[in-house]
Amino acid sequence: MATSICFGIQKGGCSKTTTAGIVSYMFAENSRVLAVDMDCQGNLTELLTKKAASEFVDNTILEALRDSDAEKYIFRVNDRLDVLPANNLLAILPRTLYEKFGLRSRSVYLQLRKILQPLQDRYDYIIIDTPPALSEHTMNALVASDYVVVMYESSAWCYSAVPNFIDSVSVAKQLNPQLKIAGILRTLNDVRRYDSKAFNDLIAEEYPDLVFQTIIRRKAATGRLSYYGFTDENNEIDEAIDQFKDFFKELNERVVK
Ligand SMILES: Nc1ncnc2c1ncn2[C@@H]1O[C@H](COP(=O)(O)OP(=O)(O)O)[C@@H](O)[C@H]1O
Ligand SMILES: [Mg+2]
Repeated sequence: MATSICFGIQKGGCSKTTTAGIVSYMFAENSRVLAVDMDCQGNLTELLTKKAASEFVDNTILEALRDSDAEKYIFRVNDRLDVLPANNLLAILPRTLYEKFGLRSRSVYLQLRKILQPLQDRYDYIIIDTPPALSEHTMNALVASDYVVVMYESSAWCYSAVPNFIDSVSVAKQLNPQLKIAGILRTLNDVRRYDSKAFNDLIAEEYPDLVFQTIIRRKAATGRLSYYGFTDENNEIDEAIDQFKDFFKELNERVVK
């Protein structure tokens, strides 16, 4: 059985996609990984496939969800890493789901879980990226996951987003009781700013058992992954992901296989 981990927070720009991509890359060094892009921006798709999201027209997670079958939409990156891609059209997912299942059906939130079910034995880890919204996309991701990593960029607006996100996790738990918060990852830390430190301390005081000890810094090589990706030509991959190694270790300790 695969262990499914999603990365979420409804605020944009909190390193959800970057972290989901790095974690997929790290797990895929020794395990079989499926990375699922649930954000219509298609950033995880582009990061991991090095193709434009627009190249996946008619071959995305949207069609997989519409057909209730993911199989033929899986894109193989290498022997251990597959991607279920997304592009802009994923924005219409809510309309697609409500047309199919009606306005009140719980089925609307169960579809990702349903299509990942037959793939469970093929992968060790399923990593799911989510959009910056508490949308049907995010709820489907939460309902399909064993664990969620709450992404926390040390700022006032992200600080106020966390409790609402955790409320959504509670709602998702009604459909998926095994869902657990793996932890809150403090990231994009700007060591020169006293307010970054203050917001990092504040969240740790409020959620002492949930915060990961590792704090990810804002670092140029990590930011540039969005451009260079994990290609052979990128000679700064180690520099980009080095600071994630301690987080990855903590994550592995918290995620029960
Ligand atoms: N640790 C980091 N250091 C520097 N830049 C980062 C880091 N993490 C992410 N970024 C950059 O910050 C921006 C937002 O990150 P992204 O992963 O797209 O966040 P989200 O998916 O939450 O919107 C992107 O331009 C990304 O390249
Ligand atoms: Mg993103």
